[in-house]
Amino acid sequence: MAEEKKWVRLVTAKTPTNIAVIKYWGKRDEALILAINDSISVTLDPNHLCTTTTVAVSPAFQQDRMWLNGKEISLAGDRYQNCLREIRKRACDVEEEDKGIKIAKKDWESLHVHIASYNNFPTAAGLASSAAGLACLAKLMNVKEDQGQLSAIARQGSGSACRSLYGGFVKWIMGNSEDGSDSLAVQVTDEKHWDDLVILIAVVSSRQKETSSTSGMRESVETSLLLKHRAQEIVPKRIIQMEEAIKTKDFPAFARLACADSNQFHAVCLDTTPPIFYMNDTSHRIISIVEKWNLAEGTPQVAYTFDAGPNAVLIARDRKAASLLLQRMLFYFPPGAGADLNSYVLGDESILQDAG
Ligand code: DP6
Repeated sequence: MAEEKKWVRLVTAKTPTNIAVIKYWGKRDEALILAINDSISVTLDPNHLCTTTTVAVSPAFQQDRMWLNGKEISLAGDRYQNCLREIRKRACDVEEEDKGIKIAKKDWESLHVHIASYNNFPTAAGLASSAAGLACLAKLMNVKEDQGQLSAIARQGSGSACRSLYGGFVKWIMGNSEDGSDSLAVQVTDEKHWDDLVILIAVVSSRQKETSSTSGMRESVETSLLLKHRAQEIVPKRIIQMEEAIKTKDFPAFARLACADSNQFHAVCLDTTPPIFYMNDTSHRIISIVEKWNLAEGTPQVAYTFDAGPNAVLIARDRKAASLLLQRMLFYFPPGAGADLNSYVLGDESILQDAG
């Protein structure tokens, strides 16, 4: 390693967020983060909703440290430590001659990293904010692992984060092995495959959720009979149907499955003792508006899905449907009328203008 103590090696990367259309809810192994069912998500455009992470390494750093949105957070938990250990194990030689940086594989064991992450979306309000900047650390440490193996490491930070390693539609295979080596993410279709879809997020509340996903799903596993039925009987069939709907771009089937799965996930939350309420009255109104509209059109125009929070993720079949959706949202929730709703359009901002 270079004797000079002054160098710092920096890498910045954007980690997109993902939204599940077939939900992960429940672990069979809490330490390794192994799910009780497969799940499927869509990765959002990293230019819109993402986490930007900068990681730095320097011989001057005395310990590993991390900041989230400018506030230092503790790295003491097992999840962080597991991820850091796994990624360090796979680190390789790095050489940047012009900066006088030379790091040998064995040096990574004693070098410390600083990690700074910024989310440009409401943190911990049910918008998959737990997706980590692992890809960034992998780049910093010149890790040669493929995306699938990296996803298995990301999984140990937060289950849903493992699906953010790919764009497009992604499946997290729960796997069967005890050590979790076959529990990883695979891409179902890439981001270009179904690019007619427009995703809009209605931010109902940016307040931190009361029950974290981690403790909520633990309570559901312990107390909900509906969850057992869901994981064993319902989700395996839905996964096959959802993959088919995505591959054939069958929007009516996609919308039916996504809405039903979101509703069943929230039914499991209600079936938990004590019950967990992630959605609120505004979320319920949004569901009614979309359901009535889809019914009136005779074929679904929009799918909705809600993660562990009240915010609605609305997936419109195309640009025209997205623009009509936005018109409706602005009609039912006029800005400034105290309805506690802000809308973000992802992808193409000009849809806002189309909607007037
Ligand atoms: C409702 O991945 O945040 O968003 O693995 O305990 O970190 P941990 O939980 P997390 O749970 C996400 C739950 C969900 C559904 C999903 O994204 O599939």
